[in-house]
Amino acid sequence: MSDKTPPLRSAQWFGSADKNGFMYRSWMKNQGIPDHQFQGKPIIGICNTWSELTPCNAHFRTIAEHVKRGVIEAGGWPVEFPVFSNGESNLRPTAMLTRNLASMDVEEAIRGNPIDGVVLLTGCDKTTPALLMGAASCDVPAIVVTGGPMLNGKHKGKDIGAGTIVWQMHESYKAGNISLDEFLSAEAGMSRSAGTCNTMGTASTMACMAEALGTSLPHNAAIPAVDSRRYVLAHMSGMRAVEMVREDLRLSKVLTKEAFENAIRVNAAIGGSTNAVIHLKAIAGRIGVDLELDDWTRIGRGTPTLVDLQPSGRFLMEEFYYAGGLPAVLRRLGENNLIPHPDALTVNGKSLWENVKNSPIYGDDEVIRAIENPLVADGGICVLRGNLAPLGAVLKPSAATPALMKHRGQAVVFENFDMYKARINDPELEVTADSILVMKNCGPKGYPGMAEVGNMGLPAKLLAQGVTDMVRISDARMSGTAYGTVVLHVAPEAAAGGPLAAVQEGDWIELDCASGRLHLDISDAELAARLADIEPPQKLLIGGYRQLYIDHVMQADQGCDFDFLVGCRGSEVPRHSH
Ligand code: FES
Repeated sequence: MSDKTPPLRSAQWFGSADKNGFMYRSWMKNQGIPDHQFQGKPIIGICNTWSELTPCNAHFRTIAEHVKRGVIEAGGWPVEFPVFSNGESNLRPTAMLTRNLASMDVEEAIRGNPIDGVVLLTGCDKTTPALLMGAASCDVPAIVVTGGPMLNGKHKGKDIGAGTIVWQMHESYKAGNISLDEFLSAEAGMSRSAGTCNTMGTASTMACMAEALGTSLPHNAAIPAVDSRRYVLAHMSGMRAVEMVREDLRLSKVLTKEAFENAIRVNAAIGGSTNAVIHLKAIAGRIGVDLELDDWTRIGRGTPTLVDLQPSGRFLMEEFYYAGGLPAVLRRLGENNLIPHPDALTVNGKSLWENVKNSPIYGDDEVIRAIENPLVADGGICVLRGNLAPLGAVLKPSAATPALMKHRGQAVVFENFDMYKARINDPELEVTADSILVMKNCGPKGYPGMAEVGNMGLPAKLLAQGVTDMVRISDARMSGTAYGTVVLHVAPEAAAGGPLAAVQEGDWIELDCASGRLHLDISDAELAARLADIEPPQKLLIGGYRQLYIDHVMQADQGCDFDFLVGCRGSEVPRHSH
């Protein structure tokens, strides 16, 4: 260890020859820890979101073992600890409800324990932001290891993408185009191995965001979950975590405004999920970086989408890795002066550009397209504003129908998700392909957790006519595996008194992505009168964590974090004696 090694945090627990040191060491020794282990080895927490109820993270015990090998090889002491595992597929009503809870668990677990640095084992959608948020609030040396994507799904001899195929099969089944047997056969072929959804859904997007932010080693995002190179990466990340402690390379040195701007650019290039807008804002807030919705317009809009992955394109994460993964995308962006801050520091101590400048790109520009031949010329996230969304709304152009991105139509209104479900397939519903489906009360407070219901399925009678897309507007989120011309995250939400609450059946609405406009075509006076007429929602008294959530969650433009969690509180704990 060099003289420059900062004092170890863990020495506050184990470093003293007194009563406190005795107690802290003694209980740990019941695990067979020899005395010399306490003599200045960096203690690396392995923050594990393993759970059999989070299928995407169910292989994390094996990954943790490989991290431990790396930590030990580098002279550290690995200690694995569990945190709340907010898995997307099983948790009701939505894993987003517990993202902040998980982040609190992570923050307090890190700060309260003798941990010098931490390896964050993340995978399923919300686990990556939750762990980064919690670790950022402590500002310790931290490195992300994601679980990696599943192998390609297979159905009738073809590749199928996790999540995306669910929407497709459901709509085909509803329209009477496929049998129940075929529906079930696709279900069986979708999830063939350990790992996260293999499309560019939210999990893959957030894995790419972690890599673009510089918080993981290169290639972390795309190595398949069951590829032995994932274990090598876990091993190397364990080694690196020990070195980061010795170098005092804390998250605040990596998670800078520049890093977030790089991530926004990368999100556009990969055709990433709209959920990244919310999660990056929440992570930035925890480390004291001021990130605004308009940064997505300034940095992201106009960036060509290069990665041809579902749901925007054709391929899956396996092909993405074989084509060179995120380093190849970054190289392509960098060679075209499209990385805003190539010098941004990453967890391996090198700059983003140093890491990727010689990365190979394979496969005839099919999966990772050439700048001159992008999947979408004008990618990124479209931020919309107007009298219908004063604090903003978002739309993902690469998942939308170009012809609908400038559209004027009449509203078909659903006051909430239950009403949507009850009415959408009513043969009497007055709706045409030009209508705009509007759903209210599905925002952070209205549907606590802001469920992924914004990509409302189309009316069965229109599907049967061959309609494949319509403009949809809500204060909800959308799964990263979904697609369509879908306006999301309308803020303020209806349940917080936003103008969305005032939309009535038959109102004309104008959407114009090019100018970023979302307009309810009524006068200001009429809008104000309608809003004044709406009874303020009764304060929900449901108790428990959901009460805390409703009372403290901020709007989508603020990342849906709790108001009292914003900011970096550091890793210091008051010393106490028993
Ligand atoms: Fe876990 Fe998709 S459900 S990554």
